[in-house]
Amino acid sequence: MPKGLFITFEGADGCGKTTQIKLLDEYLRSKGYKTLLTREPGAKGLGERVREILLNYDGEVSPRCESFLFLADRAQHADCIIKPAVKNGMIVLCDRHTDSTIAYQGYGRGVNIAELKALNEMAVNGLKPDLTLVFDIDVETSMERVGTEKDRMESSGIEFFERVRLGYLEIAKQEPERVKVIDATRSVEEIHNKVLELLKNVIG
Ligand code: TYD
Repeated sequence: MPKGLFITFEGADGCGKTTQIKLLDEYLRSKGYKTLLTREPGAKGLGERVREILLNYDGEVSPRCESFLFLADRAQHADCIIKPAVKNGMIVLCDRHTDSTIAYQGYGRGVNIAELKALNEMAVNGLKPDLTLVFDIDVETSMERVGTEKDRMESSGIEFFERVRLGYLEIAKQEPERVKVIDATRSVEEIHNKVLELLKNVIG
């Protein structure tokens, strides 16, 4: 059985990672790999309910409550979906994971990062991405791409997204082996080629 892999796609809203994850999924399938394309928050089942609250609830949500909801979704996702697939030799491509919590709730909302990391460890229980791709883009461009129909998270303001962006770059600086930053202002094809180049390091 081939070795399973866990690859995460990260970046601010509107960075284009969802287009890229689909392109990579198609590429890997065309080469005969077994893949699982999934996302956070809200992969399947219970996760979809949590996603609904996180993105659409219109009352006050405290940053710590928000953190716990993302982590609850992650624990369910890790235990019931990601780990079994990796164990079965699949390449799991995940649209957002742990680094979103550190960038958005930690750097963005100001929740204590050391505490978030400890709680996240409890949620993932040892699961760690083999490779993380951060799609970096200036906030103005990403907000233009998001447009005017914003969900609860996307309505958090320019300064929030500036902090999220810096958060991702800081994470990449701290873990350069795992986390690779890609210039997301390039063309879709150029970015896809860069993704394939970085993938070679983990796929062998
Ligand atoms: P989604 O519609 O999936 O956005 P995108 O296509 O940009 O991934 O919404 C997910 C939102 O939730 C997005 O604004 C990022 C945010 N988020 C967090 O704040 N913390 C987290 O831990 C995760 C997983 C997502």
